[in-house]
Amino acid sequence: MKRILVTGGLGFIGSHTVVELQNAGFNVVIIDDLSNTTLKVLDSITEITGKKPDFYKIDLRVKDDVKNFFENNKVDGIIHFAAFKAVGESMQKPLDYYENNLSALVYLLQEMRDRNIDNFIFSSSCTVYGQADELPITEKAPVKKAESVYGNTKQIGEEIIEDASKAHGINAIALRYFNPIGAHESIKIGELPLGVPQNLIPFVTQTAAGIRKELSVFGDDYPTSDGTAVRDYIHVVDLAKAHIAALQRLINKNNKESFEFFNVGTGTGSSVLQVIKAFEKASGKPLNYKIVGRRKGDITAAYADTTIANKELNWKTEKSLDEALASAWQWQLKQ
Ligand code: WQD
Repeated sequence: MKRILVTGGLGFIGSHTVVELQNAGFNVVIIDDLSNTTLKVLDSITEITGKKPDFYKIDLRVKDDVKNFFENNKVDGIIHFAAFKAVGESMQKPLDYYENNLSALVYLLQEMRDRNIDNFIFSSSCTVYGQADELPITEKAPVKKAESVYGNTKQIGEEIIEDASKAHGINAIALRYFNPIGAHESIKIGELPLGVPQNLIPFVTQTAAGIRKELSVFGDDYPTSDGTAVRDYIHVVDLAKAHIAALQRLINKNNKESFEFFNVGTGTGSSVLQVIKAFEKASGKPLNYKIVGRRKGDITAAYADTTIANKELNWKTEKSLDEALASAWQWQLKQ
C-alpha cells in the first residue's frame, strides 16, 4: 500500500484530501504545524474513515526537522498544502509569506531530490492568472503579475517546482484551484476560519448564524450580469478528489511532461448575489447584507475551462453549488 505525505493535512482542503486518499486505499502521513487548525481534525478524519493517519507536528521552515522526518519516514508521494493563504494578510506580512510558502517548498523538494522520492502534487491557485482576458480560463491563459504576495508565492512556487522537476526528474502536478467551499457529507470536517473570515462563504454562514451582523458585498458596479463579482465555487470534496486523480496520473506514469498544471473548478461562474440567493434557498434563512465599495485587488470574474482537467485527470466535479452551500451551512450549525 503506497504511503503519501500530506503537508497541511489538517487544514480545510488538506483534511478532505486525506479522507479521499484513505478511501482510495492509500496510507497517509500528515505534517501540520497547527498554526491554522486544531488536532481535533485528526480525530474527525479518523471517525470518518476508521483509519488514523500518522501525524507529525513539524514547522516546515525548520530544515533540520524536515530532514529528520524523511530520515524516519518512507513515502511514495507528497501532496503539499502547507502555506499561509490570506491574500490581505500577505500584503501586510510579505516576508513571512515568502519564508513560509517558499522555504518549506524548497526543503521538501531537496529531500525528494536526495532520496529519489517521486510524485509531487502542489496546491496552486487561479490567482496566478490575475484577471484573465478570456473566460472561461484555460491552462493556456497567460500567468500575469500577481496582484498579491500570496498569489506571487504560488507563481514562484510553480517555477521552483518546474525547475526542480526538469533538473532532478521529479514528476509534479500543480492544481490551480478556483474557490473551494463546503464540507464533507459527514459534517465532521469543514472550513475552520480562525478570526474574521476573509472568504465569502464562511462570512455568509457566520452572518446567517448571527455571529456577524451583516455581510458586506464588495461592489455591485462590476461589468457582470448583476454588477457583483463572479467566481467558480467548487465543492471541497470534488477538489479533494482531483488530488487523488492527479496523484494516480503520476503513479501510473500517465503524465506527458515532468511538470504539468491543471485548472480545477466547476466551469461555472456565480456572482456574489447569485451565491447569496442560493444560500438563502439552501439554508432557508434570509441573509442580512449590504452593498459596499469594491475590495482592493479583487478581479471582476474568474471561472475555469475544465476541458483539460476533465480529460487528462479523468475527473470532473459531481457536486452542485446548492449542495456545497447546504453542507457549509450544516457545518456552521455544528460549530
Ligand atoms: C469571493 C468573492 C469578493 C468576502 C480566494 C482566495 C484565493 C484563491 C481564490 C485559493 C469576491 C466577494 C468576499 C466578503 C464579498 N483560492 N466577497 N464579501 O477573492 O476569489 O480568492 O479564492 O488559492 O487564494 O483568496 O475569494 O471568498 O475572498 O471572495 O463580497 O465578505 O466574494 O469580493 O468577489 P477570492 P473570496
